[in-house]
Amino acid sequence: MTRTPLIAGNWKMNLNMGEAIDLVQAIKADIDVSKKDVDVLVAPPFTYISEVARTVDKSGILIAGQNMHWDHSGAYTGEISAYMLQDTGCTHVILGHSERRNLFGETDEIIDRKVKAALERGLVPIVCVGETLEQREKGKTFDVIKDQLNMSLDNLKKNKSMPPSTVLAYEPVWAIGTGKTASPEQAQEVHAFIRTWLNKNFGPNIASSVRILYGGSVKPTNAAELMSQQDIDGALIGGASLKADSFIKIIHYND
Ligand code: 13P
Repeated sequence: MTRTPLIAGNWKMNLNMGEAIDLVQAIKADIDVSKKDVDVLVAPPFTYISEVARTVDKSGILIAGQNMHWDHSGAYTGEISAYMLQDTGCTHVILGHSERRNLFGETDEIIDRKVKAALERGLVPIVCVGETLEQREKGKTFDVIKDQLNMSLDNLKKNKSMPPSTVLAYEPVWAIGTGKTASPEQAQEVHAFIRTWLNKNFGPNIASSVRILYGGSVKPTNAAELMSQQDIDGALIGGASLKADSFIKIIHYND
């Protein structure tokens, strides 16, 4: 099965409204997604989603929330539900990003509940996993990734069912925002491990359909080499997604 590459920009807590709209207009002007064999997604801060969705219009650019709550409504001051994301134009949501895990105390159990809630509302989860430098240096990378997958996708595992549109992202913590990219071989090794885990838990069809993105200092200069790896199906990009020029170059990594 061929997996359509997905190039996704995680804007994190950056840009003002004007910059956000300028950026998405530039992306829209440059690509005709229907003609390119790559899917393009942006994950703006919550407050810009509606306006970005209006700007994106029918261009095919996908929109994701950067986080959401596990419940569908209720007394959760400051939180956003899956339905609210969908209602403003999102089709996807990033869950379990290492910044959520490390800075905001998100556990695998919380992420598991969020994945369940996203799927209940028909939002596609982009579930992130990744090891720290210390864990890598101690030779624990595969154990950490396996534990994160087992626990943050526990509900799906129990039901032995994962929608084929689900997206996973391998983001080694030591490569995020540091300028240090995992080598294509280092990334491929973990992506292959994740695909084997998918195969074991959900069978060969799901293993061959689910896209696994790499994230961590992806730039125009390293995108093509990373993307040439067999099990790397796209990129989740932070810093380089904030400038039209670099993000568009990554979208065109194959040209
Ligand atoms: P950078 O591309 O800035 O390293 O960020 C990666 C990331 O965290 C994307 O979610």
